[in-house]
Amino acid sequence: MSEKAIALLREADSIEVFSGAGVSAESGLGTYRDEDTGLWHKVDPTTYVDIANWDRESDKMWAFAVNRLRSYIDAEPNAGHLAIARLAEHRDVHVSTQNVDNLHERGGMDPKKVAHLHGNALAFRCFDCRRPYPTPEPPDPPVEKLAPPRCEHCRGKIRPDTVWFGEALPQDEWQEAERRMHQVDALLIVGTSGVVYPAAALPLIAQERGIPIIEITPQPTELTPVADVSLTGTAGEVLPELVRGLR
Ligand code: OAD
Repeated sequence: MSEKAIALLREADSIEVFSGAGVSAESGLGTYRDEDTGLWHKVDPTTYVDIANWDRESDKMWAFAVNRLRSYIDAEPNAGHLAIARLAEHRDVHVSTQNVDNLHERGGMDPKKVAHLHGNALAFRCFDCRRPYPTPEPPDPPVEKLAPPRCEHCRGKIRPDTVWFGEALPQDEWQEAERRMHQVDALLIVGTSGVVYPAAALPLIAQERGIPIIEITPQPTELTPVADVSLTGTAGEVLPELVRGLR
């Protein structure tokens, strides 16, 4: 464990965690861009998660969302999620995550302290009137196409409450993440490639302020040059050690 990382974080009362798919990898939820295993190497995101495709291919997009729901329901928080929640017991910790799973919360983080920049794959709503819709039962076996259910108020098509390509981020979550980046004493980046904007611009606010930035990643990322210390390893290995070192 890097003593420098511990020393940098020791003085920080408030810490922002900026997380991506890597923090949930050890929970069995694949990442998006890792070679061989990344989801976007297996399926084309422009077919399944792109707003431009919704009118034409809503049956494919709905099937994709409900097929994946099974893995989100079955996944369990890993040692990385638990370590972040443990850190929040003695520091002011807030998480800005790009993940659409709920593993930070299920690992013990207060839901009010987790901003979901890309939405929530376990929540559903009407495309048109935005009213919430109950979480459906995932199909078994998975299906290739399925017509989305209709909203009982306006007959609009139901969709997952996630952010698709071509859509704006949820304003409340974005503003909270930005506000934190302007206020916290330190930033912990965990398991993100740092290539998807606007989320990937958040650490640049912290960099401009000159606060300590620690990254945890198995391999260098676009954000490695922004970090004061980049710890090589997985979230499940490195985070518990880092949090132990801080106590
Ligand atoms: P990526 O798949 O692009 O990157 C995951 C990062 O986590 C990579 O840098 C991996 O090396 C690293 N990683 C892998 N296993 C890890 C582990 N066990 N512990 C720590 N790090 C690990 O995923 P994101 O950067 O999160 O957006 O992707 C950002 C956005 O792109 C996603 O939210 C999603 C996707 O398109 C939308 O769907 C809107």
